[in-house]
Amino acid sequence: MARLALAAVLALSAAAPAVAQDGAQIFNSQCKMCHQAKSSPMAPALAGVYGAKAASRPGYKYSDALQKKGGVWNDANLDAWLANPQGYAPGTKMLVRVPQPERRKALIAYLKTLK
Ligand code: HEC
Repeated sequence: MARLALAAVLALSAAAPAVAQDGAQIFNSQCKMCHQAKSSPMAPALAGVYGAKAASRPGYKYSDALQKKGGVWNDANLDAWLANPQGYAPGTKMLVRVPQPERRKALIAYLKTLK
């Protein structure tokens, strides 16, 4: 029985792209307390954020800092943003940093899957 269950788990994890899966776990523990499926006063929803104009998710009042920074979210600027939001857009309302490059990579892969 235990063997069968383990085989099922392994099959499941093989089916999903590994990096995005790690990203989902990191997102759930470090981002989801603020970023929910719908924008709230805490934070914007992040569906469709990859490839979108910065500060353009509906239903959230962004800081002037992020609005003025502008740009379209891609791998490079998301990496810089997650490493140090305050350095990327001084005055932003997001203060959480992700210092580990491999975690940022996994998170960015996960953000791409949020539609
Ligand atoms: C404590 C709350 C909080 C946490 C935790 C948090 N964020 Fe944020 N995030 C914000 C806020 C607030 C903004 C809007 C910033 C602004 O307007 O300056 C934001 C903005 C963003 C944006 C830009 C959105 C856009 O529309 O341009 C991205 C991408 C993002 N966060 C990703 C993440 C990721 C990934 C994590 C997990 C590592 C995370 N955030 C954790 C509060 C949070």
